[in-house]
Amino acid sequence: MGVEVRRGSTSPDMSVVVGRVRLRHAVMTASGTSGHADELAAYGDLASLGAVVVKSLSVMPWAGNPAPRVHPVAQGMLNAVGLQGPGMAAWLRDDLPRLATGDVAVVVSIWGRTVEEYREAATVLGAAVRDSHPIVAVEVNLSCPNMSGHGIFAHDADLSAAVIGAVVGQVSLPVWAKLSPNTDRLVAIAGRVRDAGADAVTLVNTVLGMALDPDTGRPALGHGGGGLSGRAIHPVAVRAVHDVRAAYADLPIVGVGGVADGWSAAELIMAGADAVQVGTATFADPAAPFRVAADLEAWLTAHGHRSVGAIRGRAHG
Ligand SMILES: Cc1cc2nc3c(=O)[nH]c(=O)nc-3n(C[C@H](O)[C@H](O)[C@H](O)COP(=O)(O)O)c2cc1C
Repeated sequence: MGVEVRRGSTSPDMSVVVGRVRLRHAVMTASGTSGHADELAAYGDLASLGAVVVKSLSVMPWAGNPAPRVHPVAQGMLNAVGLQGPGMAAWLRDDLPRLATGDVAVVVSIWGRTVEEYREAATVLGAAVRDSHPIVAVEVNLSCPNMSGHGIFAHDADLSAAVIGAVVGQVSLPVWAKLSPNTDRLVAIAGRVRDAGADAVTLVNTVLGMALDPDTGRPALGHGGGGLSGRAIHPVAVRAVHDVRAAYADLPIVGVGGVADGWSAAELIMAGADAVQVGTATFADPAAPFRVAADLEAWLTAHGHRSVGAIRGRAHG
């Protein structure tokens, strides 16, 4: 009996609340780094994660950027995938059934080139999820740096607010706004998307970057520029989460950027995140989201914490 009590007291409560959603674990996948469906199922139990966040979907099929689309750099990688995807209707028909097995929680990421395209993607999604569904939230990707001819929505507060307003009108799901670290106005923009109806902000997308091919002197990525991710951007994510949490004590935050082990996950939570996502680490180790989830539990246990909530926002004293 006494042994059971002790065991219970050393196993931390990993469940978290992000706005209107309760997730069974603080660790999720990050959009664009674990496919459109159950690609990671061979490496762990998807239902054990907080959620699987699928690659951003637009209302229309989209071919993405020319190869090479990814390039390794010190402590991270550059990518310019360019949001390749089958389109929302085809994803709902072909991919979601493969993912929506068992008890997997799904977060659907959407993108568009205009406010109207975001609205259309949300409309198709909203119509499909009226009944009980594994989809627990929609993450609005306002921050892709890899679309030729289109700026980053999340650098324009009015445009970001308009997109969130359009999406909120079409779905009953919680709406998370995924923002860009490539601006000094992140805090103000987070406030605007919150006021427009976002339940949470996801911080951060990739950092604008480029690498050159030493043989040709030309850009290594087919698109030219790309987005930097992985350990190299972890301090950028910590700062973004910290600053937004300092400004808005009650705004739910999902932290993402360079999470690769228990401490880097804990660091984002201490900076103020309610939950975290694992992206680039998955390219080196497809089991990374499951490993980070276990590692965060072990880290909490080793430091005597009974829940994820016990360390949330600790940086703010
Ligand atoms: C290859 C690749 C593709 C990505 N595609 C998307 C995407 O479709 N939508 C999105 O919101 N973020 C996308 N991201 C950004 C990640 O979700 C994440 O915000 C970023 O990479 C930082 O986290 P990380 O350092 O753990 O990768 C992508 C990142 C990578 C590396």
